[in-house]
Amino acid sequence: MDCDTGLDDALALLLAVRHPGLDLRAVTCVAGNTDVDDVVRNTLRVLDAAGAPPLPVARGAVRPLIEPARPARHVHGTDGMGDLGLPAPRRRASDENAVTVLRREILASPRPVTLVPTAPLTNIALLLRTHPEVTGNIERIVFMGGAVSTGNATPVAEFNVWHDPEAAAVLLTAGVPITMYSLDVFMRVLVPGDEVRRLRTSWEPGTWLAGELLSRLPFAGPAAGEGPAAGGLGDAGAVCAVADPSGIVTRSLPVSVALAPGRTRGQTIVDRRETPRSYETARGTETHPLVDVALEVDAERYAGLFLDSVRRD
Ligand code: BDR
Ligand code: CA
Repeated sequence: MDCDTGLDDALALLLAVRHPGLDLRAVTCVAGNTDVDDVVRNTLRVLDAAGAPPLPVARGAVRPLIEPARPARHVHGTDGMGDLGLPAPRRRASDENAVTVLRREILASPRPVTLVPTAPLTNIALLLRTHPEVTGNIERIVFMGGAVSTGNATPVAEFNVWHDPEAAAVLLTAGVPITMYSLDVFMRVLVPGDEVRRLRTSWEPGTWLAGELLSRLPFAGPAAGEGPAAGGLGDAGAVCAVADPSGIVTRSLPVSVALAPGRTRGQTIVDRRETPRSYETARGTETHPLVDVALEVDAERYAGLFLDSVRRD
């Protein structure tokens, strides 16, 4: 996984550690929701709370390829993870950088790996440009990012792609199967408010943490009717899409990233025409890589999958 932990990246990590069908090999960290040193610290703390076995955690890019970092502390708190006051991490980060660790873990894996970026794609772009041979042992990249309809960082751009659009453009041309867990499905998976409340009363650190994170996630909007607000699963939905791919409906579509300066920068342009590329083909202009774009999600199934895997009491 490649994260900018981050409230919902933390949920994604909890799920990746605790789902019995997943084998989390390494976590790399990138600037995004907060600065990369906070991301590393938050990631180590979450892995402690989850009771994860020892695994490499590596620090990566301190900023996007071209632009300065633009953290989302207004969403994720001053420490990037809700200012929960978690204890200092017991485990340590690797002395090696993220790209080195990604290369080694991918090439060393006896089975092709799935890369799961839930953050700006700077580390992944650097990896693909520095060590392109890794694609030989990548089965699929399932990334949280992009939007088919509305954005969040801007009216049209989703945060992870908007934060480093050039890196996202590199990812799309990786030449391996890619699933885009878009903002459209990201927003729909909610854990009901009474479940969130129950998680928060747990004595078990990982279960309690899941409840605290969900209660701080702003993706859910107000509670429907009476009772506590539901909590959005956010990035953890992308991990659900790895563990249980049948929970999303995808369509193979051409996707590109708007790179020009201005109001559309960072927008993912998803070509949903019935005969895509017909105009471009007729004029002999460029084509765009095909990406499996998640258009629908079984939200209840993914919320249930998360609770069944993470809850320990
Ligand atoms: C993405 O941006 C971040 O704030 C979240 O962690 C998620 O990865 C949603 O646009
Ligand atoms: Ca994230």
